[in-house]
Amino acid sequence: MNTKWWKEVVVYQIYPRSFKDSNGDGIGDLKGIIEKLDYIQSLGIDVVWLNPVYESPNDDMGYDISDYRAIMQQFGTMDDFDVLLEGLHQRGIKLIMDLVVNHTSDEHPWFQESRKSRDNPYRGYYHWWEAEKGTPPYRWSIFDKESNAWKYDAATDSYYFHIFSEKQPDLNWENPIVRKEVYDMMKFWMDKGIDGFRLDVITCISKDTAFPVLSDEMPAGAWFPYYAKGPHLHEYLQEMNREVFAQYDCMNVGEASGVNIEEALLFVNEDRQELQTFYHFEHTGFGIHKEHFMLEDETNRDLVAWKKIFERWDQVFLEKGWGTIYLGNHDMSRMTSRYGNDSPEYRAYSAKMLHTFLLTMRATPYIYNGDELGMTNTNHTDIAAYQDLYTINYYHQLKEKGEDAQAFLHGHARISRDNGRTPMQWDDTEQAGFTTGKPWLAVNQNYTAINAAEQAHNPDSVLNYFKKLVQFRKENPLLVYGAFALVDENNPQLFAYTRTLHNQTFLAVLNFSDTNAQLHTNLSIEQSIIRMGNYAIPSQNYSFRPYEAVIYEL
Ligand code: GLC
Ligand code: CA
Repeated sequence: MNTKWWKEVVVYQIYPRSFKDSNGDGIGDLKGIIEKLDYIQSLGIDVVWLNPVYESPNDDMGYDISDYRAIMQQFGTMDDFDVLLEGLHQRGIKLIMDLVVNHTSDEHPWFQESRKSRDNPYRGYYHWWEAEKGTPPYRWSIFDKESNAWKYDAATDSYYFHIFSEKQPDLNWENPIVRKEVYDMMKFWMDKGIDGFRLDVITCISKDTAFPVLSDEMPAGAWFPYYAKGPHLHEYLQEMNREVFAQYDCMNVGEASGVNIEEALLFVNEDRQELQTFYHFEHTGFGIHKEHFMLEDETNRDLVAWKKIFERWDQVFLEKGWGTIYLGNHDMSRMTSRYGNDSPEYRAYSAKMLHTFLLTMRATPYIYNGDELGMTNTNHTDIAAYQDLYTINYYHQLKEKGEDAQAFLHGHARISRDNGRTPMQWDDTEQAGFTTGKPWLAVNQNYTAINAAEQAHNPDSVLNYFKKLVQFRKENPLLVYGAFALVDENNPQLFAYTRTLHNQTFLAVLNFSDTNAQLHTNLSIEQSIIRMGNYAIPSQNYSFRPYEAVIYEL
């Protein structure tokens, strides 16, 4: 058993903009997080992942960085950051930060220089295409208003490349000076005492920089290899490991868009010295229309196929590497709405069931802030309610093309990123106790019923169940390292599995449906010990109520 501290931790993700506003400007900030340090500690989690807090014009909410070594003014100062880091460390909590180095902001001094002249020393920091070569081969862009990743820049009569918005030009990783700049910046933060990084869209750093012409007929999904997973990706990750990770006792997790199971070990086999872990999207993309970013008919959701995704991803790390598990983050809608049931009747049951899942799998769990309360989607179908450029630009793009933008919004509403970005619901006072001003994104109106203050005092709350589960995982290394095996794998309602280490076996049974479900197994649960359950009296007779979750020790 290859034990490591970063395999045993529970990670709590904080979206600073929406966590707690300390000065009434409607924007969450570092002082706000500092105010909530005791709350964070009370969760029992071990690591905080902080979304970007660097200086940024916020075209993409901090994922467009204009100064990697300064704190965003809206969020506070470097002194605030130092206080936060120390406050976490004093409480035994580690901090990992977001590393966004596929692109910078167009307001970053490197880009400001780069665009000035063709012979500027910073020219080679980005990807430029000179206009005399003709129009560059079309590349799709995820956040661009015209869906075009090339933007013409008159100053030097050239186009620059941006996979994301036009305010997020891609850095040229082929340039060794760029790579050195990145490693130096990483060391700056590591030397400050942070405990590692989450690596934003890390598979995109190496791409096909010959920019070949792609056929019009190529479906959107097939474009990926031209944008990411380029020929030097593993070389760069090994270099980053050598230059930075290997120098510190730290953790890292890559956002691995497009990495499939066959390639998984190329990234995290420890012998290759690249990354420790990454997260993939196979289970979160399930049921989402490939081209239109909207949810397909949910009644189609096939739990059997979904379970097998988790089984496959568990098996791939049997000998080498290590996995992660998550159901929500700042790029997703709320897990309770998406995978559970956010009706008043089942919201709390299903949120607890999903936490049972996250905290009993053989992988490092990531919990997104607010999910510990079972917060839910807002599902807005009015474009004016949105702040996310992803939704806004896509909507306007369709409108300009004369397509039915409103229909898109209806399908997209339930998976939009702003669902997961509404302010934390601290209490039942105005604006959910998040701010004394006007929040940058409206609070979910259910805050009077769903909030941390109420749940802290309610022994049956999602919050208290979550805390118990975190402790339960800590007390049982079996839940971290034990072998995973599906039980009754073709059951269309139940997700059931055993976890086994040495002579001990736990069985988790999770009902993902809103009707009773029967477990078919030879395992005997009548004589077992019930270790956790989300109903007052957990089932011990193979029949499970809607969204019931039970953990037995066999
Ligand atoms: C990642 C981030 C997302 C951001 C994008 C561009 O997917 O998680 O929030 O918009 O990268 O940086
Ligand atoms: Ca503020």
